[in-house]
Amino acid sequence: MSTPPTFDPKNMPFRRLGPSGLRVPVFSLGGWLTFGKSVVGDPCKEIMKLAFENGINMFDTAEVYSQGKSEEEMGRVIKELGWRRSDIVVTTKLYWGTRPGPNNGGLSRKHIIEGTQESLARLQLDYVDVIFAHRADTNVPMEEVVRAFNYVIEKGWAFYWATSEWSSEQIEEAYHIADKLHLIPPIAEQCQHNMFHRERPEKEYAKIYSSYNIGTTVWSALASGLLTGKYNDGIPEGSRFDVEKSFFSGTLKELQSPEGQEKIRKVKELTKLAQEELQTTPSALALAWVARNPNTSTVILGATKPEQLLENLKAIEVIPKLTPEILEKIEAILGNKPGGVNQYGRPSLDPFGKLSHL
Ligand SMILES: NC(=O)c1ccc[n+]([C@@H]2O[C@H](COP(=O)([O-])OP(=O)(O)OC[C@H]3O[C@@H](n4cnc5c(N)ncnc54)[C@H](OP(=O)(O)O)[C@@H]3O)[C@@H](O)[C@H]2O)c1
Repeated sequence: MSTPPTFDPKNMPFRRLGPSGLRVPVFSLGGWLTFGKSVVGDPCKEIMKLAFENGINMFDTAEVYSQGKSEEEMGRVIKELGWRRSDIVVTTKLYWGTRPGPNNGGLSRKHIIEGTQESLARLQLDYVDVIFAHRADTNVPMEEVVRAFNYVIEKGWAFYWATSEWSSEQIEEAYHIADKLHLIPPIAEQCQHNMFHRERPEKEYAKIYSSYNIGTTVWSALASGLLTGKYNDGIPEGSRFDVEKSFFSGTLKELQSPEGQEKIRKVKELTKLAQEELQTTPSALALAWVARNPNTSTVILGATKPEQLLENLKAIEVIPKLTPEILEKIEAILGNKPGGVNQYGRPSLDPFGKLSHL
């Protein structure tokens, strides 16, 4: 047996995943619409190997991605590359299942347990590091969900559990139930966060961050590629919006509208700022902007080609260049900073309880 390759974090910063002790790279790699779909076989191996060689040791997938094929591809590559299990962090997600059937999806105790076992089989792993509830399931009592994820952890099939696109109320409910039952609460939220999608991660979750210290594992930080500038002059052949026309039909329609054209105008301005003031690309700027948010634990990158991954990793050097002045210029271009909590005309209190205007 050959010696496993040694993981070298290179210049990758690591952060704790929310309140947990798990350390995750600021940039990780995901397999939605790519692995097992547009990227299969050797290209998949090439991208994952390149990631590992550049400090990325965290890989995210889900049971539903390409009906389980994403997990299969990732599992095969992990095995073929002979990585040490302790060197990598693997996360997967349950909710949509891989096939129809009343109990083949959702967050019942049955699907959480059976779904976890099936995911592990596809990944050829004994455990994942974090198992996510890919969405909230309003048809299942929250206590059943919390107890089932705790069972998965007790069995050693996952070390932690987390949520994805749950409302702040649902996350809070899970916390309270876990607290009451002396069980393990979720440690992270996998949410969409990018320059054009800010309300939920920046406003709705504000209380969740401060009360429970949850971290985010951010998805679509490039808005599926829109923030790279590749869609400024139409839809390039072979790009995500071209290949996945029907899935992105709403986005494609929006791009034709005045709102969509306004987004393109902003991407052009951001490109100018990135090039002239930071000597970087719009992709690296958009990724660094999400990564610098103190509530971001990791930004999950997506890539169909090795060159994209290398370009996106340039974001690591851009993070410290995002000075308050540059951030202000970005806000001026975006013009979409979520407002604070509505005080309904009442002045807010300062930390010592005095009215802030006195
Ligand atoms: N929890 C959830 O509900 C959820 C939802 C979505 C995603 N996720 C996770 O988050 C991960 C990342 O999401 P995402 O793939 O949507 O991220 P993204 O960064 O917004 O989009 C990635 C796509 O943009 C294009 N791209 C990336 N870098 C580029 C570059 N430098 N130049 C030109 N094009 C570039 C590529 O697509 P093309 O080459 O095909 O154009 C790539 O596949 C997923 O893999 C998944 O693990 C989670």
